[in-house]
Amino acid sequence: MQDKPVVLVTRKLPQAVEERLGHDYEARFNQDDRVYSGDELIKLAAGADAIIPTHTEKLSADVIQHLPESVRAIASYSVGYDHIDLESAKARGIIVTNTPEVLSDATAEIAMLLLLGAARRAHEGEQLIRTNTWSEWSPTYNLGIGVTGKRLGILGMGRVGQIMARRARGFDMEIHYYNRHRLGSEYETGATYYETVEALLPHCDFLSIHCPATPETHHLLNARRIALLPDGAVVVNTARGAIIDDEALIAALRSGKLFAAGLDVFNNEPDINPGYRDLQNSFLLPHIGSAARETRDAMGFRALDNLDALFAGREPHDRLV
Ligand code: DGY
Repeated sequence: MQDKPVVLVTRKLPQAVEERLGHDYEARFNQDDRVYSGDELIKLAAGADAIIPTHTEKLSADVIQHLPESVRAIASYSVGYDHIDLESAKARGIIVTNTPEVLSDATAEIAMLLLLGAARRAHEGEQLIRTNTWSEWSPTYNLGIGVTGKRLGILGMGRVGQIMARRARGFDMEIHYYNRHRLGSEYETGATYYETVEALLPHCDFLSIHCPATPETHHLLNARRIALLPDGAVVVNTARGAIIDDEALIAALRSGKLFAAGLDVFNNEPDINPGYRDLQNSFLLPHIGSAARETRDAMGFRALDNLDALFAGREPHDRLV
């Protein structure tokens, strides 16, 4: 009987995923779920055929160059791949895959939650109850802004952006978007397209970010572009923290230029810019866009489908390089 391929699994995965891994592969699990450094990854991958990392492991050019020769594939347990230096992987002949599609609904749900929570000041209201400081009802306390019928700008109209647009239409929101390429009318379904981010921004009562983190989108939402948003706009980010210049966003939330922000992703997670914590008009979640049980199972199965294909000599469905 042929030996099973050896797979290094960098974080604790859902039980059903670990069971399938344990059955089909010689899996090296991470028992205490600690985030491995680059040096640890290199050592732990000795003799491994593949690695299943998450976005918490930084597979930089340097780490990839020093991975053992045995490593043929990196099947990331994530749709985002900004934590992996694809060029270096390609140069080493290491196949890299991700897990698109299966987390789009869950991420759009969290984007909607952030949009609603930020607009209606959900966390301040909840704080009143939890701290037992809710004294009486009044017509003027905890006033937020309404969402129904407002203009939603979507920056990046890929899978998640399109689902977000559908959900927002349920709130009668008017959809405006920027994408590198204009969508066909069957996908656009009445949304208004802008050829540049700058052209989109003045039309956004709400702006929801859904583009990938790349060198081109690094700090895309900076002070200059925030100034183009209408006064009192709300910014939502479920994509990657790197797309936002934190200092610029915090300044705009402090000055009242923006009404609020709803954020699930941050630069330098989990050591986020402390400025966000002091702001009452920031509604903050700890990168839980895909954290629904069904979704996290589906992400693991998708990563394994990719590895199964590779080790059976087929082309993995979600090959990036
Ligand atoms: C993703 O899949 O990219 C999510 O952000 C979780 O890593």
